[in-house]
Amino acid sequence: MPIFLLTIFWFKYRKPLYQQKQIPGAKSSAQEFKMGASLTEVKRLLLLLLCVCSTARLVQSKVHFHSWEISYQFKSPDCYKKLAVTINGETPGPTIFAQQGDTIVVQVKNNLLTENVAIHWHGIRQIGTPWFDGTEGVTQCPIVPGDNFIYTFVVDRPGTYLYHAHYGMQRSAGLYGLIQVAVPDGFVEPFAYDDDRSIILNDWWHNSTYELATGLSSIPFVWVGEPQSLLINGRGKFNCSAAQPASLCNATNPECSPFVLTVVPEKTYRLRIASITSLSALNFEIEGHNLTVVEADGHYVKPFVVKNLNIYSGETYSVIFTANQDPSRNYWLAVNVVSRKPGTPTGTGILNYFPNHPNRPPPTTAPPASPPWNDTEYRFKQSVDARAHPNYVLPPPPTSDRTIILLNTQNMVDGHMKWSLNNVSFNLPHTPYLIAVKENLRHVFDQRPAPETYDYRNYDIYAKPKNPNATTGTPIYRLGFNTTVDVILQNAKMPGNSSSETHPWHLHGHDFWVLAHGHGKFDPERDPKRYNLVDPIMKNTVALHPFGWTALRFRADNPGVWLFHCHIEAHFSMGMGVVFAEGVDRVGKLPTSIMGCGESKNFLGSP
Ligand code: C2O
Ligand code: CU
Repeated sequence: MPIFLLTIFWFKYRKPLYQQKQIPGAKSSAQEFKMGASLTEVKRLLLLLLCVCSTARLVQSKVHFHSWEISYQFKSPDCYKKLAVTINGETPGPTIFAQQGDTIVVQVKNNLLTENVAIHWHGIRQIGTPWFDGTEGVTQCPIVPGDNFIYTFVVDRPGTYLYHAHYGMQRSAGLYGLIQVAVPDGFVEPFAYDDDRSIILNDWWHNSTYELATGLSSIPFVWVGEPQSLLINGRGKFNCSAAQPASLCNATNPECSPFVLTVVPEKTYRLRIASITSLSALNFEIEGHNLTVVEADGHYVKPFVVKNLNIYSGETYSVIFTANQDPSRNYWLAVNVVSRKPGTPTGTGILNYFPNHPNRPPPTTAPPASPPWNDTEYRFKQSVDARAHPNYVLPPPPTSDRTIILLNTQNMVDGHMKWSLNNVSFNLPHTPYLIAVKENLRHVFDQRPAPETYDYRNYDIYAKPKNPNATTGTPIYRLGFNTTVDVILQNAKMPGNSSSETHPWHLHGHDFWVLAHGHGKFDPERDPKRYNLVDPIMKNTVALHPFGWTALRFRADNPGVWLFHCHIEAHFSMGMGVVFAEGVDRVGKLPTSIMGCGESKNFLGSP
């Protein structure tokens, strides 16, 4: 606790550690501090805190500066050459390493020439810096070609996180990577390991992002289809004999040699696994090795053992495994598509027992297949089995102040195929919400409140969507600052067939407790009694299972405007998202670097 206080104190009152650009908002905290306490009082408090804590922590809070140039490059992650959006020439981008409490500064230079960009720090709550969430249209204007933009934020929690493009469907073009935040010195995690490794999983299309996005907004609608490949740390293998034209595919290109995870026999590893897929729900397995799940989205979970792990887009996990199998051979790492009928071969990598050669010969066994792709119960059970680690995760507030029920349906709007929540399909406005709400620009988005619920008494989730003619809109949910909010995600049938899809929902700016997963239709009278208020996991991304519901709870305690959306790139671009605004009057002066588009132009000249 004192360490926590001291950290807060340190961030609130320290001078900027670098002179390049002052942290926006720093000025207003300084003013606050003058009004609130005299200098001697502050000194006394600081001294007191210094006595309580070791000074080492003060000294060790670091600033990590990264300079990233975003550009298109020809890449062959699955042996097939296509244009990818890269960071300093690479996809996936570099992993950001930091320690809890450190400050990350990323200077982004947009060298895409004809395309905007924005980068979101997925899982980082951006406390005090809501303008650096990187969500185009919500927290900032896009970074236009040729421009520089500097993101500055504190990583306030240890754990495994992601970053990725948040402009159009650009994420699927290759702009993504990992953030690894270590615990403070001296802090002991509730599990032990000899070495720490990480993998990031992705799905990959040969069509350009523009072709995919244009299909989704066309009449008639053209679906993106199943990905051509699954990538492990940016490496996959397309069958070049099926490539069109064949000259674009080179099976011996070193860029598509399999990812190799080398382990020393009998050592124990922490493997961080993150999924940034655009569409696919994945099942990950290491042949012959059980995995003990210990962390999910930056929170410790009560360890549970799985043979394979279901992982949805936007989720991160840490698993522990020991290299205790036959050391004379290598084993497969395998990823398979689940929850959609797979049209993509298994993605593979190699678990290499040192000192064997990494891939000569490859394992003679077949790579693990996932459980049946349509075994919803299997995946449902894994979601329900995850419990918070009792000593590390706070239980939720016992009650909530407000419940928002969101019915997820696919509908037609003016001939376009859309996803909607309570029959409203989300559209990004031209002026980012954060600027519009803070500056009270009332005409740039829909001022009517977004719908709180749907007609659950009469709606049949097993029937075709009742209102095929939904509307598109820009309304938001205004949440009372510091209130507790429940969100119920309700799944339903698709219009075209008899199925219901899995949607990984991701909330910006917060972690939430997952109070329950249920089958069928959520009943507001009966189902809250089943909530797990004892040890629910905390996450930032959670699955909504087919024909089911998921109940979340969070505290609206982070001043800002935050997107909540399905992490499937195509679904979000078809309108599957909502926006929450809370405590915006407490947000400090917005940096002009986020402005310049829509009506926010008008604020650029003002002092
Ligand atoms: Cu990783 Cu708005 O998403
Ligand atoms: Cu979805």
